[in-house]
Amino acid sequence: MTTLRLAKELTALERLRALLDAVASLGDRAGDVYLVGGTVRDILLGEESFDVDIAVEGDAIEFARALASTLEGRLTPHEKFGTAVVLYGEDKRIDVVTTRTELYDAPGALPTVERAGLREDLFRRDFTVNAMAVSLQPADFGRLVDPFGGRADLEARLLRVLHNRSFIDDPTRIFRAIRYEARYGLRLEEHSGRLARACIEMGLVGDLSSARLRDELQALLEDPGAIGGILRLGELAADRAIHPHLRADANAAELFERALKLRDELHIVVPSWRIGLAVLGRDMSSEEAYGWLERLKVRRRDVDRIAGAITIAPRIVERLRTAQLDPAEIVALADPFAPDAPLLALSREDTPALRDYFARLRDVRIEIGGAELATMGLSESPRVGEVLAELRRRKLNGELDGRESELEAARALIAAAPEE
Ligand code: CTP
Repeated sequence: MTTLRLAKELTALERLRALLDAVASLGDRAGDVYLVGGTVRDILLGEESFDVDIAVEGDAIEFARALASTLEGRLTPHEKFGTAVVLYGEDKRIDVVTTRTELYDAPGALPTVERAGLREDLFRRDFTVNAMAVSLQPADFGRLVDPFGGRADLEARLLRVLHNRSFIDDPTRIFRAIRYEARYGLRLEEHSGRLARACIEMGLVGDLSSARLRDELQALLEDPGAIGGILRLGELAADRAIHPHLRADANAAELFERALKLRDELHIVVPSWRIGLAVLGRDMSSEEAYGWLERLKVRRRDVDRIAGAITIAPRIVERLRTAQLDPAEIVALADPFAPDAPLLALSREDTPALRDYFARLRDVRIEIGGAELATMGLSESPRVGEVLAELRRRKLNGELDGRESELEAARALIAAAPEE
């Protein structure tokens, strides 16, 4: 087999220039250094921006220290793991590890790690396309190390595991596969696909620790290819393996797509993953949604928004169908779980009422506050909130016009029902 050299490709990359100069200037002190993993995959795919991961057959921290000093960067060593991060320039980052092998004691558990050669380091990885390295040693510069056929798989657009236990060792790889499929137009090769399904059927995805599962779902739902990713989650039956009432089907993909479009069009601030979890969990009861999200260790205020969207959005849709509401009533309906619940409701049924809520009503504020009420003799008490709420209600319904009319209405309200 001829050895493929990527020397020309590497030197053409602006992103690598400072690093390559630094390694060259270190000469023999650099040792056996390689670009590895996703970095090599992205370079072969011609991706413009990519993370730089380096593996050293030797002491990663020692190499990273020399690199940081040559690049005039900052070194953060992690002695416990034998890894290091080098930050340099304005915002550049290089991750350095010692080549290692991983031993899995139990499915889904984090592995124990042992120092090993480059080939074993590549063999511990998820897919052949991520199991390549490129040498940076001066004598060997640009040589592609590809023991498992990663380049051929990348050309054929295939994701292939390196051995049959891969998904069992680490079921999060199923989510990584879905992400890579959606992002790069790759496809799980047939045998690997069967292994993924078997792992799901064995219940190993459901056994993943909650925080790891949450991180994977978030990464998938934040990915630009998330819509395709949702469909694939359902095709592989990974949704039901996570929770019996999670539904990643064509309706979910459509609803998610519509919600993202409306979010961007109406300038609503809410992360994609939060919309995505509400869409996937839309068939859950309120108790199921709260229980599931708490088990996933989602932050409390996000749990409230997502579970709120799951339970309240259908009620908002229903209420708007059956009643003619004035603007203040629309706000009273939408505000408590905003923006998630009204956004999901709008994605289910496009109504002028909710468009008006996002375009205008949600930003309507009265001009006066507690200070003005105090000068009218209303001291701090729940009555202050009540008066302000009543003023906002009137303003929303077009009954007030500017500061003077608000002051006048406030005086009348206080006079009509003074403090007890
Ligand atoms: N890896 C793995 N199994 C995992 C996670 C990571 O084998 N569960 C390996 C892969 O070889 C991957 C490398 O570790 O390329 C780095 O992981 P990460 O930074 O998460 O992925 P990238 O491939 O860099 O891709 P991206 O961040 O774009 O998903």
